[in-house]
Amino acid sequence: MSTGPGPGRPDRADESPDDQPSDPAAPAQDDAARGEAAPDAAPSGHAMWGNTTSGTAENVGYVPTNAGAQQPPAPRKGTSQGESELVREALKDAKVSHETAVNALKVMAGRREKEWPRPGHCRIITIANQKGGVGKTTSSVNLAASLAMHGAQVLVVDLDPQGNASTALGVEHHAEIPSIYDVLIEDVAMEDIVVPAPEIPNLFCAPATLNLAGAEIELVSKVARESRLRRALDAYETDKFDYVLIDCPPSLGLLTVNAFVGGDELLIPIQCEYYALEGLGQLIRTVDLVKAHLNPKLSVSTILLTMYDARTRLAAQVAEDVRTHFGDVVLNTVIPRSVRVSEAPSYGQSVMTYDPGSSGALAYSEAASEMAHRGAAK
Ligand SMILES: Nc1ncnc2c1ncn2[C@@H]1O[C@H](COP(=O)(O)OP(=O)(O)O)[C@@H](O)[C@H]1O
Ligand SMILES: [Mg+2]
Repeated sequence: MSTGPGPGRPDRADESPDDQPSDPAAPAQDDAARGEAAPDAAPSGHAMWGNTTSGTAENVGYVPTNAGAQQPPAPRKGTSQGESELVREALKDAKVSHETAVNALKVMAGRREKEWPRPGHCRIITIANQKGGVGKTTSSVNLAASLAMHGAQVLVVDLDPQGNASTALGVEHHAEIPSIYDVLIEDVAMEDIVVPAPEIPNLFCAPATLNLAGAEIELVSKVARESRLRRALDAYETDKFDYVLIDCPPSLGLLTVNAFVGGDELLIPIQCEYYALEGLGQLIRTVDLVKAHLNPKLSVSTILLTMYDARTRLAAQVAEDVRTHFGDVVLNTVIPRSVRVSEAPSYGQSVMTYDPGSSGALAYSEAASEMAHRGAAK
């Protein structure tokens, strides 16, 4: 399947008028976000910066530390961040277009904070919910992109045969590409399949191909069938990353169980819709079973409310129910429904680069910031 950019961007006319969260728990909107509502704003977020002189790569302080590298990062050492010379250097060699990088940097400049705290060790976060279409892949990709854009080294493991996360990261995943299937079934090493995401420095992807659809059955007869991803990740020395995000398929089969065993934390995206809570009991019971028998470290660390439609009472009700039930693990940030978020994958991009000033991009950035700060506080 082609993962290249799609056809020309559609007009902004189809941007939903409510494409900004109005929920008090939703991220505070700065001028950048308000700029999104301007009907003639450029899709890439130029317009909102038209009258500002700040926001060049040099004064933002964001350093794509691994810009353009073909290889995943070397084991971590202290990195110095913020030197403008370094920024210039990094951007010179970066595989991202200058425009893409500068647009993203401008939005971050408006957000004042440039670098987020990096965890002391690699956080392996499994993103799961057996319901389809709740925002697992969208959240994996955009949280990963946000974290990488704030200086973290991030790996996305695509564990869904559909390969949507690979597509959204602009990574090829046709049948001949070495993929996570080969790791799980053929004992291929992670380092032989991990590739850099072309749009964003510091971001890497272990792609999934359609072969993975067969893995659910093929795993049944394998030794240590539930722990194959964990073993592969252990052998890969994941500590060279700050975050590994595992995007799960919409089921509780062996692939998802591998992600539960391979991860330390679980992030559950919950769509703010009527049936959202249905099935969560089953998900939590499965997590408890894995915890009891296969991975005592596993915990539900984060719940993210997605596709919030501020026009509906129902969305607010669902959000309230989830907060009542799950308490502190629910991120304060709520991801609004946003046309830009759903368009981005067809251009092989996260919304963070496709339209960095959109409400969806700002919300994902806010959510990722919460995750980074909460993790650092622990
Ligand atoms: N915040 C959002 N606003 C609008 N559309 C969204 C949003 N989040 C996800 N989508 C769209 O909803 C669909 C399902 O999302 P996806 O992340 O693929 O779910 P999952 O991985 O759980 O199946 C996709 O078409 C995606 O583009
Ligand atoms: Mg998905």
